[in-house]
Amino acid sequence: MRELSLNVLDIAQNSIAAAATLVTIEIEEAMGMLTIRIGDNGRGMTNEQLEQIRDPFYTTRKTRRVGMGIPLFRMAAEMAGGSLAIESEVGVGTTVTARFGLDHIDRMPLGDMVGTMDTLIRLNPGIDFLYRHTVDERSFELDTRSLREVLDGVPLSEPDIMDWIDANLTEGIQSLGSNA
Ligand SMILES: Nc1ncnc2c1ncn2[C@@H]1O[C@H](COP(=O)(O)OP(=O)(O)OP(=O)(O)O)[C@@H](O)[C@H]1O
Ligand SMILES: [Mg+2]
Repeated sequence: MRELSLNVLDIAQNSIAAAATLVTIEIEEAMGMLTIRIGDNGRGMTNEQLEQIRDPFYTTRKTRRVGMGIPLFRMAAEMAGGSLAIESEVGVGTTVTARFGLDHIDRMPLGDMVGTMDTLIRLNPGIDFLYRHTVDERSFELDTRSLREVLDGVPLSEPDIMDWIDANLTEGIQSLGSNA
């Protein structure tokens, strides 16, 4: 993957697979670090599952496909002078936090977060998404829960609504002066 936004899309798919109803995607650029956090209220993981993710080639079944979403995101972070951490609790949810050196030569660009959010929102009508992007003291937020309230039953996937969401995200992120 050449863009971190594609890793974010991939990690958010795990939240969706875990039956989350709310997925929070936070991007923070501060003090020379880029932090990307994907949090959900899905089914969570047991300690045993968490151990297995730390060792992607561990498997109890020969037929189990080795998942690469988290290992790839971890590799991207470690390559760029950062790290990845996972917190999870069964029945509560999961948070994946990746940190990167903002100016590290091997850090992949954040890329098209508007495209990632557009895809997630459009393809998952039953799930709410909160996008929060912070650069130093400036912050931008888009919350599909508040949009739904205003829209009063009109689906977010309506083309006009999606166009508005894309424009709002584009403008909001631009206004932050992001270096990611
Ligand atoms: N947010 C989450 N909630 C619950 N379980 C999760 C979550 N994220 C990951 N997992 C568990 O960790 C496993 C490994 O995730 P990972 O993204 O690395 O691989 P995968 O999703 O199985 O495969 P791939 O991403 O390559 O399609 C998942 O199969 C799932 O069991
Ligand atoms: Mg995955």
